[in-house]
Amino acid sequence: MNSKSSALACVILAAGQGRRMKSDLPKVLHAIAGLPMIRHVVNACAGLLPEQIVTVIAPDHQKIAEAVTPSLTAIQIKPLGTGDAVKAARHLLKDFTGDILVLFGDTPLLEPATLQALRDKRQATNATIVVAGFQAVDPAAYGRLMMAKDGQLDAIIEAKDATPEQLAVTLCNGGIMLFDGTKLWSLLDALQNNNAKQEFYLTDCVRLARAKGWPVGVAMIPEMQVLGVNNRAELAEAEKLMQQRLRRQAMLDGATLIDPDTVYLAADTRMGRDVTIGPNVVIGNGVEIQDKVTIKAFCHLEQVRVETGAIIGPFARLRPGTVVGREAHIGNFVELKNTQVEERAKINHLSYIGDSHVGAGANIGAGTITCNYDGFRKSRTEIGAEAFIGSNTSLVAPVKIGAGSYVGAGSVITMDVPANTLAVARGRQQNIADWAKRYREQQLQVEAEKAK
Ligand code: UD1
Ligand code: MG
Repeated sequence: MNSKSSALACVILAAGQGRRMKSDLPKVLHAIAGLPMIRHVVNACAGLLPEQIVTVIAPDHQKIAEAVTPSLTAIQIKPLGTGDAVKAARHLLKDFTGDILVLFGDTPLLEPATLQALRDKRQATNATIVVAGFQAVDPAAYGRLMMAKDGQLDAIIEAKDATPEQLAVTLCNGGIMLFDGTKLWSLLDALQNNNAKQEFYLTDCVRLARAKGWPVGVAMIPEMQVLGVNNRAELAEAEKLMQQRLRRQAMLDGATLIDPDTVYLAADTRMGRDVTIGPNVVIGNGVEIQDKVTIKAFCHLEQVRVETGAIIGPFARLRPGTVVGREAHIGNFVELKNTQVEERAKINHLSYIGDSHVGAGANIGAGTITCNYDGFRKSRTEIGAEAFIGSNTSLVAPVKIGAGSYVGAGSVITMDVPANTLAVARGRQQNIADWAKRYREQQLQVEAEKAK
């Protein structure tokens, strides 16, 4: 037996219609933790470093082809069954002599270790086929695994074709099968569709292999790994399980999640050590949170980088294209969009800063708004290092505030401000002595006249 495992190719079946999703979007493109389901499966396969991954799709599902690039797709013209679907990938793999792993595109919780278990089993036993088996809590429509006394798998019986006795078996087919690639195609050629669904069942390869005296084994996997998504309720269930996994991983990697069940992460979230995340924080795609960052309760982040030691929130919204520099502070009810905030800068209260650059150590007062959109185009605001923007200021872009400058509170800034300058752009204050006293006396006199 080989000590080195043979080369691997993966075939992911996704040509089914997924009608129960009641959606215009193909089922496998519905997202779990921000990533299309099919990509989770592709990523699990990629963990095994295969030579090739081929996804089998229906002719009208080109969007799936885009979602899985750069891996290849093959088209199954008609959904004639899982065995027929694998045949659709044949032209891409006909010269491939390694192992071929067949799995389904709607099992987003699958992990590389599970797939590796099938590889290990095949390597240890030299079985022609290894099937992923699990003990089903509710075997329902799963194919049943018929074991021989010697521990070989004799056949997989689909639920619709099973006798009551066979239906009582709870050892089920998880839908992942690993084949000796030099034997797969001849098995597929021998498939017939004389069964309840009149489909070419991939699972019949087991019976055909046994008829030739080829060994077939089972690798046991956890049921959760092959949890399939068929409708939106199951989509939500898979999302929940994926979130639990992501939260746990973030914590094991050194982040404190104060109330983990209320923190939502994305599959691509990158998080450092000694990060603290408060309750009710939502992290969308493309977020990097570096070491020692604190994100307080009720924040929403998407496509942003938060650098070491920064403090965010509570109640902050960080939108795409934003970078928050080291030890910067972004406080409550602050919205940042496509804005680079340099180290130590502070934007602590009630602000909208968009399409902007905020220099190191700048202080942006409460209620500062960048007016970045004129109904036609977006313009940039540049705020220099150590600048101080007084509260309730409107910065009408395009505009530049020089380094070290002050802007008086309540200003509407429409012109550039040079460095180290004070800019005040508001009505000048006038104090009129004794005006209030005279006013009151006048009014009292009018009232007295009326009462007469
Ligand atoms: C299949 C297995 C069953 C197993 C179960 C696990 C077969 C015959 N049965 O049954 O033993 O317990 O999965 O979930 O394999 N697909 C195509 N083209 C087709 C038909 C299906 O690409 O013509 C794809 C579907 O998109 C799906 C996958 O293959 O991703 C499985 O098809 P499905 O119809 O759900 O098979 P099951 O009846 O669930
Ligand atoms: Mg199914």
